[in-house]
Parts: sequence; structure tokens; C-alpha cells
Amino acid sequence: MKRLHTERLELHPFTADDADFVLRLLNEPSFLHYIGDRGVHDLESARRYIEEGPVASYALRGHGLMKVVRKADREPLGMCGLLKRDTLPDADIGFSFFPAYWSQGYAIESARAVMRHARDALGIGRILAITTKDNESSMRLLARLGFRFDRMIAMGAEELRLYVSDP
Ligand SMILES: CC(C)(COP(=O)(O)OP(=O)(O)OC[C@H]1O[C@@H](n2cnc3c(N)ncnc32)[C@H](O)[C@@H]1OP(=O)(O)O)[C@@H](O)C(=O)NCCC(=O)NCCS
Repeated sequence: MKRLHTERLELHPFTADDADFVLRLLNEPSFLHYIGDRGVHDLESARRYIEEGPVASYALRGHGLMKVVRKADREPLGMCGLLKRDTLPDADIGFSFFPAYWSQGYAIESARAVMRHARDALGIGRILAITTKDNESSMRLLARLGFRFDRMIAMGAEELRLYVSDP
């Protein structure tokens, strides 16, 4: 899995060394509210999440969630990448940033790099996205990225909005 570059950002594949960062990000109140509790509550479960989630996905599919780092000061800001869930027919894009880095265009810049790489390097056509009904900033971001609302879907006990971006 190679790094992706944008004007202000680098997207790095996660490694076990990112356990502390993942532990903090996945326990941000906004992450817990809009995405959910991934059961990552200590460094050991963070390492397991990295191994069984992103790292396994890189090996299997050549894509997965990546760490977003600001080039100017090497600050890790959040994560962005594709996920492939058994419950959806195509890969969906995921993003999550620490609140201190919201509203500066970092999410859109990293998502564009992920989508470009998916299409140009991996030959992925349709990309999906899912959000909760109350996630206004995610919906705004998806609209800016060219996604269209498709329909509501049930995932577990939740009703989610399904978005589609065609090639
Ligand atoms: C969803 C999430 C990633 C969106 O982040 P965001 O900060 O709104 O998105 P961006 O970084 O692209 O910033 C966009 C905003 O920055 C502004 N902006 C400032 N400088 C900019 C620049 N150089 N380029 C582009 N936009 C810029 C845009 O105008 C836009 O403003 P608006 O939201 O008022 O319309 C963020 O809210 C988050 O991490 N939430 C918690 C996790 C989550 O919900 N994930 C999604 C699950 S579906």
C-alpha cells in the first residue's frame, strides 16, 4: 500500500505504531456518535483494529482506511479511505477527523485523493457512502464530492442514508 499525496496532505497506510492515534480518534465523541463504538478501548484493541481492519484490507483489496497527515508539520489529523463491508455490494468511503481540523477542507482533499486512486489505480467504478440521518457535515461533504443520495438502508438496528458516486 503506497502513500497518497495531495497539496497539503499525505495519506499513510496504518501500522501497529498508530495504535495510540487510533485509540484517541475512535473515542472522539463525534466518532462515537456518528460512526459508533468499535470496541477500541485500550492500545491492545487499537492494534487489533488496525491489523484486522485497514492492514488486512490493504493485503486483500489494495485499499483501506489510511492515516491523514498534514505535510506542513507532520500532524496526524484523521483518517480516510475505502471499506468493503459484507453488507454492501461495493466499497464505501469513510472519513473521520479530530474536531480541531474540521472546516479547513482537509476531509474533502483526502477524500478526492482516495477516490482518484480508487478509479485510476484500482479500477473501481461505483463508490458508496453511508451516513446517519443527522450527519449534516458528512452529507455536505458527500454532495461536494459528487455523491447522490440513493435510498435509506437498514444496517443493524439503524436506518442509514446510502449515497452513490458513479464513475
Ligand atoms: C464528516 C467530517 C469528516 C467532515 O469534515 P469537514 O471539516 O466538514 O470537511 P472538510 O475538511 O472538507 O471541510 C469542509 C469545510 O471547510 C471549508 N473550507 C475551508 N478551507 C477550505 C479549503 N481550502 N478547501 C475546501 N474547503 C475549505 C469549506 O467551505 C467547508 O465549509 P462548510 O462545512 O461550512 O460548508 C467531520 O465532520 C468528522 O470527522 N466528523 C466525525 C466523523 C464522521 O461523522 N464521519 C463521517 C461518517 S459518515
